[in-house]
Amino acid sequence: IQLQKRNFDIILTAPGGECTSCGSCSSKVDCYPEPGSSESGCYSRGCLWCPSNNPGDPWCIIPDGGKTTIEILTGAVVTPPPSSSGCNTDISEPERIDCYPGGGATEAGCVGIEDSERVNCIPEGGFSPSLCTERSCAFANTNSPNAPMCYFQVIKKSTGTVLLDTSLGGLTFSDQFLQIATRLPSTTLYGFGENEHQNLIIHNFDWESFGMWARDQPPDPGANLYGTHPFYISMEDDGNSHGVLFLNSNAQDVTTTPAPGLVYRTIGGVLDMYVFLGPEPNRVVEQYNTAIGTPFLPPYWSLGFQLCRYGYGDLNTVKETVARMDAYDIPLDVQYGDIDYMDEQRDFTYDTSNYAGLRDYVRELQAGGKHYVIILVQIHDIFLCTIKFKKNPKLIFHFNTIDISHRKQVWPPGKCAFPDYTNPDTETWWTDQCMDFHKTINFDGLWIDMNEPANFVTGSTEGCASNNLNNPPYMPKIWGNVLAEKTMCPDHRHKLGNHYDVHNLYGWSQSNVTIKSAVASTGKRPFVISRSTFVGSGQWAAHWLGDNNADWHDLRMSIIGMLEFNMFGIPYVGADICGFNGSPSEELCERWMELGAFYPFSRNHNGLGYKEQDPAAWGDEFAARSRAVLRTRYTLLPYLYELFYHAHTDGTGIVRPLSFEFANDKTTATIDEQFMWGAGLLLSPALYEGIKTVSAYFPDARWFNYYDGVEVGARGTTASVDAPLGTIPIHVRGGHIIPTQEPASNTEISRHNPFGLIIALDDTGSAAGDMYWDDGDTLNP
Ligand code: NOJ
Repeated sequence: IQLQKRNFDIILTAPGGECTSCGSCSSKVDCYPEPGSSESGCYSRGCLWCPSNNPGDPWCIIPDGGKTTIEILTGAVVTPPPSSSGCNTDISEPERIDCYPGGGATEAGCVGIEDSERVNCIPEGGFSPSLCTERSCAFANTNSPNAPMCYFQVIKKSTGTVLLDTSLGGLTFSDQFLQIATRLPSTTLYGFGENEHQNLIIHNFDWESFGMWARDQPPDPGANLYGTHPFYISMEDDGNSHGVLFLNSNAQDVTTTPAPGLVYRTIGGVLDMYVFLGPEPNRVVEQYNTAIGTPFLPPYWSLGFQLCRYGYGDLNTVKETVARMDAYDIPLDVQYGDIDYMDEQRDFTYDTSNYAGLRDYVRELQAGGKHYVIILVQIHDIFLCTIKFKKNPKLIFHFNTIDISHRKQVWPPGKCAFPDYTNPDTETWWTDQCMDFHKTINFDGLWIDMNEPANFVTGSTEGCASNNLNNPPYMPKIWGNVLAEKTMCPDHRHKLGNHYDVHNLYGWSQSNVTIKSAVASTGKRPFVISRSTFVGSGQWAAHWLGDNNADWHDLRMSIIGMLEFNMFGIPYVGADICGFNGSPSEELCERWMELGAFYPFSRNHNGLGYKEQDPAAWGDEFAARSRAVLRTRYTLLPYLYELFYHAHTDGTGIVRPLSFEFANDKTTATIDEQFMWGAGLLLSPALYEGIKTVSAYFPDARWFNYYDGVEVGARGTTASVDAPLGTIPIHVRGGHIIPTQEPASNTEISRHNPFGLIIALDDTGSAAGDMYWDDGDTLNP
């Protein structure tokens, strides 16, 4: 639509000498001298169709009196567009390999689109190569007299690869159903979320469908999870990549097809697509993140190890847990308060009996260099809301009227309401609440949970009205029978629009507001972690992968989730270490501590009622191993901070798939049980029960064992590496310099320790690196 509109703008302003419309052409130069002239054929040549009553007058006229383009328009001579004057490759002639060995090469055939598939990019006429280039369309001669020479096609100019080809299924644009289908250049496709993508980080093309509609949903295969990220990265066969964003906030789904292709469907809004041309995959991530807003720079302390549990139950248990972490000298920077610190799960309160003394204890933690983060849920006690509402009648709450029979399942009990964060008045109210509460509990960061928004009844206890918003004609492939399942009725109004249209923006809008509330409260660099996210959330909030299971499968899946969120512009991400639902075995929890030490967000968190699983709860050996692996993390924190600096300034991914660093090595395309920290460190965790070695792939580079500096012989091949309990194999890539710092029991202490550099040389004997440093928690450093 935008392209079409632009075309019409250009009609009105097009230069073209004295002959730009039928009435203005004094000398008429025939654009279709051969028989068979037609209106469409005339337009396809970029000429003017001017029917005339004067016998002998040409009806198809070359604009501009034929001064500039007559040879081209009659098809006799092909003049390349100015931007590609000459050949668009650096490959010298002797090195070229014929791509059209059978003879009969045409430019069109070479760039991969048939005449019959062209869509005219200058439908109003007035063709010229420069106008075609100006419109970023493709230009090539044609053997079909009526085919346009300037046509839409999203191709990568440098290689001619077709990136988007909608000939597969066209476009459907109706009120509550928008669909676009595109053929893809290869089957290496990453992204789309938030879903748990099974087994491989790349998608299969066996008609796989997944929905996107924020949902309070543990990461089950096939389910739509907490956030919405309609963004993919496609890796072309030549190793180049591009990314596509469908910027749309409605309920939506995607289906892959064997073409290979994909079908994108959404039930509202507009089709607003952005293509990021890379060409390297890391550049696609940078371009995407720069476009949607680069990630926030976290405070340094938030790179330390963090501990949480839903259901400590009382302050003494928290104190005992932290004390045993200290006794074992296991690094710990952040302690959390989950909803049980609150008075009946009401935001901005604390349980003055079970958590009596919390206020002083938080100060005590902070005096020892630790930090305290509190949870906030987005559902508010209706009684308190009513009081707030009376104070500020402009506030809009969505009364959710959860009834008494649900009171045991609901936070808080009784009737509740959802604040509308798209209303600017809510920002004032929310920030005031945070600031007020900060005077009571001196929190360092805010954890915003349940903000899909989650609801323990469908819509409301009264149900939802019967209408097209609550029951749209097409239901995307999401879990549940109705859109309202586990959330509000889609026809509820927000300041910005119907819940139907802004549901996926709930966590996003809350994050945008909460980062400001955090700054206003603490006066320091903010730390906000949000469960629900959308395109651009990474500017304001971190994310964790939700209520995972304490099993080996979810240990492995967490790598894919972490890699995907690095593509989505939320590199500050991690899964609950040792799993949220269920009690892990000791071996699983140890392995998870090893992998989790290399999540950007490294937090051990446990669900209600399960066995204690903090690293100090398992005895001496477990504690010693956890201490060792976390000390490795702390040693590498200056490197991690530098990666965050680059993420913040340039949009680079922090945790990267191997394929993003070695795009030309096809073996790497599917590797998702190893990952990289930046370009310099390769992590190969043990992810299966009972194993003591890992079969790790080493792309073609020099690799040095992080622990002893010994060079690995393997290059471009798989090798077995030792991974006894307590060890995560780490290899430094030749050519990189990694800044380090001696570890300590928290970052406040470690930041005063001596720095170091690990310098790993490449084949030419060189290495490079950089380092960013500041005071760790200044605003706008
Ligand atoms: C759901 C969150 O995902 C989980 O991390 C948290 O512990 C519970 N809510 C309780 O607040």
